Amino acid sequence: MINCMKSWPEPVIRVQHLSESGIRAVPERYVKRPGDRPGWPESDRHANIPVIDMQDLSSDDSGLRRRAEGLVGDACREWGFFQVVNHGVRQEVLSGTREAWRRFFGLPLEEKNKYANSPTTYEGYGSRLGVEKGMSLDWSDYFFLHYLPVEVRDPNKWPLLPHSCRELLMKYSEEVVKLGNQLMKIFSRNLGLEEGYLLQAFGGVENMTSACLRANYYPKCPQPHLTLGLSPHSDPGGITILLPDDVSGLQVRHRDYWVTIKPIPNAFIVNLGDQLQVLSNGKYKSVEHRVLVNSWKERVSLAFFYNPRGDILIKPAEPLVTEAEPPLYPAMTFDEYRLYIRTRGPCGKSQVESQLINSPP
Ligand code: OGA
Ligand code: NI
Repeated sequence: MINCMKSWPEPVIRVQHLSESGIRAVPERYVKRPGDRPGWPESDRHANIPVIDMQDLSSDDSGLRRRAEGLVGDACREWGFFQVVNHGVRQEVLSGTREAWRRFFGLPLEEKNKYANSPTTYEGYGSRLGVEKGMSLDWSDYFFLHYLPVEVRDPNKWPLLPHSCRELLMKYSEEVVKLGNQLMKIFSRNLGLEEGYLLQAFGGVENMTSACLRANYYPKCPQPHLTLGLSPHSDPGGITILLPDDVSGLQVRHRDYWVTIKPIPNAFIVNLGDQLQVLSNGKYKSVEHRVLVNSWKERVSLAFFYNPRGDILIKPAEPLVTEAEPPLYPAMTFDEYRLYIRTRGPCGKSQVESQLINSPP
């Protein structure tokens, strides 16, 4: 059975190694079909995702607060993406963690390969998502690790080098989880639910939610117009809190266009995953996104996935289900749900769409 697969179906090739070997052409396995390549259709360069100031959301000024809450709600319904500033995660923790990962990816291949991952848990150093033999591959490597629940956290599987890495990761994750908890309360209120509803639906606050981090490394690419750093996908989980660097590359689908996100220094890019689309019964959107690569500078991004516990059923929130708005999705655990992307790799929005049990109004 596929979900018991212990190893990758083909020898793993590190994209960073390919890139640094000086090849002039992208190997066939990374060349996308013409319609799936970058550059088309792209929207005008001025479009950008909404920006939310977290300080406004906790302001004593109720007018300011309501306005910011309205902005979050619109962003979740219209874009599925926004950037957050004044998010409470300390600047030195952000830059320290990003730098630690840069240094990790700068280590010799033998050192990184000590952490080579397998498709059973994906934990460790990896170079593909999906286990189907012969599948198209993306131009990136990554490191994936679990932070919550505490029972599955194993810092021995986290990079030992650079020396500060494990400690920084603990601090970083602790602060980012707090931001995630805050966002869950704001989303609940905005959907007309009790403040703690979504947190509870994810399994409860204290160490109950699950959380993991994927540090993505997009090496320089000799023919960036032929490939993608990460193929179009929606994130399967709850909230993704992404720390990009100053190299652009992330694109979000907006209506029929790809919009390139322009990262604000020290802001996070937040996007909603499929579980929030399900819980909100389709009111919030988990939106497709993809990553382009370039030939001049490698890119590092840290994607923190704030997810429901794996073993509880996620289904449309009862207060949002009425006769006029029947449930759009069946109940499913996140463990079951995420097998799809782990098996097939990034496949646009095909999973959540295939789950529809009623047509949206
Ligand atoms: C992801 C993702 C975007 C990026 O890791 O799921 O969409 O910019 N990353 O690296
Ligand atoms: Ni993603």
